[in-house]
Amino acid sequence: MARQGIDKETTSQYVRQYGAKAEMLVQILQAIVMRHGWIPEQTIRQLADELNLSRADVYGVVNYYHDFRTEPPGNHVVKICQAEACQAMGSRALTDHACQSLGTDIHGTSEDVTLEPVYCLGNCACAPAVMIDGKTHGRVTTGRFDELVTGLKEGA
Ligand code: FES
Repeated sequence: MARQGIDKETTSQYVRQYGAKAEMLVQILQAIVMRHGWIPEQTIRQLADELNLSRADVYGVVNYYHDFRTEPPGNHVVKICQAEACQAMGSRALTDHACQSLGTDIHGTSEDVTLEPVYCLGNCACAPAVMIDGKTHGRVTTGRFDELVTGLKEGA
């Protein structure tokens, strides 16, 4: 994931790709986040200009969706499933533990590790499920969680 900003031409390409239509803002933002992991402030300003929207309009959409982060994510991303089967098997308590263990809130980043919720990883039979840097783990206890994240933190 790119931690530096997104250059103007690249941003313009996203706008053109979606026909420079203001009603495609969500899709444009999704494409940017998918590729770059976050939306820099300068990109938000440029999108507003090129789509003839106010900056408040664009910020409103960005702030509405948690996935549209305005800070770069850490190099490691930990996702904890919050969907029904995992909730029934303790994913809320696991999430509380993860927040405490990693020293961040959900959606936050600490020591290069970003913690995010996810809604079903297709691993319901092995709930609660966690995904760490794209790899799914099942039946994750708090102890197992700590084992899995050991070494992810900067300087660990
Ligand atoms: S509900 Fe958590 S993996 Fe499906």
